Amino acid sequence: VRLTAKLVAAWLVAIAILALLFGRRELGRQTAEFEARREASQQAVGRLFRPIIARTWRNEGEASAMYVVAYTRQLMADQHLDNELALRWVWLDRDAPASSSPMASLQALSAVLSGKEVTRHVADQRTGVERLVTYVPVALGMDPDRTGALEISSSLEPFHQFEAATRQRLFATIAIGVAALVILSGLIGAWVVARPVRRLVATARAIGDGDLSARVDLRQRDELGRLAGAMNGMADRLADAQDRVAQETEARIRALEQLRHGDRLSTLGRLASGVAHELGTPLAVISGRAQLLAEGSVGASKLQQYARSIEHQVERMSDIARQLTDFARRDTRKHAPHDMVALARDASDMMGALSTKARVQLEVTGGDAPAIAVVSPTQIQQVLSNLIVNAVQAMPTGGRIAVDVRVEAAAAPASSGPPRRWVCTRVTDTGPGIPRDVQERMFEPFFTTKRSGEGMGLGLAISQEIVLEHGGWIAVDSGPDRGTSFAIYLPEHAG
Ligand SMILES: Nc1ncnc2c1ncn2[C@@H]1O[C@H](COP(=O)(O)OP(=O)(O)OP(=O)(O)O)[C@@H](O)[C@H]1O
Ligand SMILES: [Mg+2]
Repeated sequence: VRLTAKLVAAWLVAIAILALLFGRRELGRQTAEFEARREASQQAVGRLFRPIIARTWRNEGEASAMYVVAYTRQLMADQHLDNELALRWVWLDRDAPASSSPMASLQALSAVLSGKEVTRHVADQRTGVERLVTYVPVALGMDPDRTGALEISSSLEPFHQFEAATRQRLFATIAIGVAALVILSGLIGAWVVARPVRRLVATARAIGDGDLSARVDLRQRDELGRLAGAMNGMADRLADAQDRVAQETEARIRALEQLRHGDRLSTLGRLASGVAHELGTPLAVISGRAQLLAEGSVGASKLQQYARSIEHQVERMSDIARQLTDFARRDTRKHAPHDMVALARDASDMMGALSTKARVQLEVTGGDAPAIAVVSPTQIQQVLSNLIVNAVQAMPTGGRIAVDVRVEAAAAPASSGPPRRWVCTRVTDTGPGIPRDVQERMFEPFFTTKRSGEGMGLGLAISQEIVLEHGGWIAVDSGPDRGTSFAIYLPEHAG
């Protein structure tokens, strides 16, 4: 988990910097302490030798005094202590010989001329090694122009080595510590953060993919635990909402089906008188032929002809009955490819009696090329019959209705896609046209301009819904005194 890694990295950098700063300060303190101790012991040695040298010089002369210094120096060297303490006699004159001139520059030693002890860091001219050097002036009381001093020096090399080693140990310790912390925090991070976060992410993905039964089981009393609780709560509520939506959708679908069925039944009601009229002719033919047969005066040659004619009329009647029962039945048939010309012919057959009675001429045109669309035939019949009934109702004194089927290339309204091929079924009447204000509202459910009992205002609303469900749309072209044309566009089924 990136977040944990970033946090840990920030922590480790902070810890490493703190450790480094602390180590440096500690080292600086040790250096200062070591040098202070060295300086103190150099001064002590100088003060010890000063009176000895002064008295030897006065009583026994320069050579004896120099011998004491040389002897001491040799003694220390023999004991391998010259790194820690080397004693020399120096003259602070400008023209003192190299063998007895001080390691430090004369400017740095001006305080010694006025009788003060001075300690300096000096780089050894031969070896380049840094030494701590203390000068203790020795008053000889003979030549006031000449100032002699004891030079006590120690090499700082061993201490520098110690310092370097300490620094290395410090870095190593910090490196090991950081590595240990990285591993430790990696383990802790994986257990406390990465593992629960992984589970949270997996659950969130599952919920996002629609599995609303997914839950996280995190028994942590921290922010992640709370997040898990909130996520579970959210999934609960989503599942509830989904159930509710499913129930409501089902109820809506049932209500819709009820409405559509009602609309079909009301069309059937309108057809009833026409059907009764239509049945009149075959019934009259049958009854006439049956009477003649019953009289028994029919010759053998006519007998077969009459029977055929009765059979034919019965077939016509059962056709009418089948069409009506098909139409009245609840819509259970699946969507399948159908020729829209055939469906338009069926619809016009069914509406034939109604239109004839209203002195309206109904004809189906087109059909030179196949016009196949994937539809529910019952639903499309419902749409066509609604449009035809509307047209018939719009022409109370008679007129013409043309149902025309053809395939057209067009771009669907409100779609940015390229034009495609549509099966367009146009129902055109020669009625008075639809005023603009009615056009604006006629697809609303329960909008009607008809007297109560004549129309419920559902026909166009249901038709539009059905066509939209089929992936198509309805276009209207109408104006006062130029008739009305409703066009149903359905996606063409290619192949
Ligand atoms: N071909 C048409 N010519 C003139 N007006 C029409 C035509 N088709 C529809 N209308 C107008 O649109 C209105 C709404 O039509 P719709 O089919 O939705 O309801 P309806 O025919 O009034 O009632 P229902 O169809 O439920 O019996 C009609 O009342 C009518 O005013
Ligand atoms: Mg209608």
